[in-house]
Amino acid sequence: MIIPDEAYQRLESMRPIYLDYNASTPIDPAVAKAMRPYLEQYFGNPSSAHWYGGHNKQAIEKARQQAADLLNCRPEEVIFTSGGSESNNHAIKGAAFANREKGNHIITSAIEHPAVIEVCQFLETKGFQVTVLPVDEFGRVELEALQRSITAQTILITIMHANNEVGTIQPIAEIARIAREHRIILHTDAAQSVGKIPALVDALGVDLLSVAGHKLYAPKGIGALYIGRGIRLEKLIHGAGHEMNLRAGTENVLEIVGLGMACEIARRDLQQNMAHAKEARDRLYNGLKQKLSEVRLNGHHQQRLPNTLNVSFPNVEANRLLAEIKDEVAASPGAACHSDSVQVSGTLRAMKVPLEYAMGTIRFSTGKMTTAEEIDRAVEIIANAVQRWKS
Ligand SMILES: Cc1ncc(COP(=O)(O)O)c(C=O)c1O
Repeated sequence: MIIPDEAYQRLESMRPIYLDYNASTPIDPAVAKAMRPYLEQYFGNPSSAHWYGGHNKQAIEKARQQAADLLNCRPEEVIFTSGGSESNNHAIKGAAFANREKGNHIITSAIEHPAVIEVCQFLETKGFQVTVLPVDEFGRVELEALQRSITAQTILITIMHANNEVGTIQPIAEIARIAREHRIILHTDAAQSVGKIPALVDALGVDLLSVAGHKLYAPKGIGALYIGRGIRLEKLIHGAGHEMNLRAGTENVLEIVGLGMACEIARRDLQQNMAHAKEARDRLYNGLKQKLSEVRLNGHHQQRLPNTLNVSFPNVEANRLLAEIKDEVAASPGAACHSDSVQVSGTLRAMKVPLEYAMGTIRFSTGKMTTAEEIDRAVEIIANAVQRWKS
C-alpha cells in the first residue's frame, strides 16, 4: 500500500507524545544520513585487503575514534558489540572468567538492569559468589556497605552509572577509588548515561564501561564496550580475530558508522541536550504538581539524569492508566497490576517505595525532540486521567 504524503503526515501528527526516551530514542537524521551509503553502496568485508574492504575498515576505525572521543579514551580501548546487554555480558563474564584464579567474589547493586542481574545469577551457578548491595531511598549505593562487602576474594564490582527507571546517578568516581585501593576491577553499565550526562572513563575511573547505541540516537542492535588498558577479558564470542581478537564476527559496519556519528553528535551537543531535556522534564513535573494534589518524585532529587522523571500517583494503577492514555502519551509503568497481584519493579522495591505509591508509578523520559507544546499537552492528558481514576 502506498501512503500519500499528506495522509502520512496526518498519521504522524496523530502519534502519541513520546516520553519514553530511556526505552529507546529515534535515530538522529544525521546518523541515518551517515549510515545510508553503507546500506546502499559500501558492502565490502572490512577484513578484505582490497578497496572494498579497506574503505569499510576505515569507516569502522573512524567510528571507534568518535566513540573514544565521547568516552575520553584511546580508540584501541573500544570494541563494538550488539548493544548494552552484550557489553554487560562480556564485561562481567569476561572479567570473572579471566580472573578466576584470583578470586570468585563479585559485588553488584540491587537496582541493576536485568542485563547485569541475570549475568551475576548465571555466574553464581558457575561457582562465583555475588553480593548485592542495597540502596537508600533515593536509589544510591552506600559506600560504607560497599567497603564492608569487599573480601580477599573480590575480583569485580559492577554498578551502573545511572538507573534506567529513576535516573539516579551513582557515585562511580568514589566507588572507583575504593576499587583501586583493593585492586578490584570496576565495571559500570553506562547504557543510560552515555549521551545524557558526561560519562568520561578517566574522570569516572572505571576499567570497563558499557554503551547502548539506541539510547543515544543510534540504531538498536549496536553498542560498545570500553576495556581499559591492561584489563584481561575472556572472549564471549569465539571465532576469528575481529575487534582486536576480543569479539569474533564480521563487523556490523552500517550500525557501527551510525553509532560513531551518534557519539560525535552527543559529544558536540551534550550541554545543549542536557539543558533541553531538563527543561522539558521539569516543565512536566511542575505542570503535574500544579494540577494534582499528590505527586511523589522517585529517585535522587539532584544526582539524577536530566531527562528522567519517575513519579508516583498514590492508589492509581500505572499500567491501566497508561493503557487508557496510550493513544495520546507513551511512557513506561513502574509496576504492573494484575487481577490478584501487583508486580513492582526491582528498583522501586529496593528503594522501598510504599506499595500504594509503587503501583501508581510512571517513568517519563524526555529527549532532544521533545517540545514544550508536547509537554503541556501531556500534562493535561495525564492529570485528567489521574483525576478520572480517582473520582
Ligand atoms: C541500564 C541498562 N542496561 C542495559 C540495557 C540493555 O541494552 P540493550 O537494549 O542495548 O541490550 C538497557 C536497556 O534498556 C539499560 O537501560
